[in-house]
Amino acid sequence: MADYQCKVINSNTTFLLSSDETILSAAYEAGVKLPYRCAAGHCGVCKVRLTAGKVKMDHSGGISRNDIASGYILPCCSIPLTHLEIEPGSSC
Ligand code: FES
Repeated sequence: MADYQCKVINSNTTFLLSSDETILSAAYEAGVKLPYRCAAGHCGVCKVRLTAGKVKMDHSGGISRNDIASGYILPCCSIPLTHLEIEPGSSC
């Protein structure tokens, strides 16, 4: 059951996700293609800017403290705590 919505701002797409699934997993279930490689928080390929909302991220070194402080997350290892808005393809 979906608990939250995630809006992808640069494609004007919204998908639903539950509080126990990762953003990447929910996106693919909804047919929304986000870039990824390891799907385990290692590589950083999936990094997006979180422009609204809060997540719980449990990464494995694929993102720097500076990126996190600048508002970036790894969707492959982040679950939602609120409704979200993300911006893929925004490099830092
Ligand atoms: S896909 Fe590798 S860190 Fe997310």
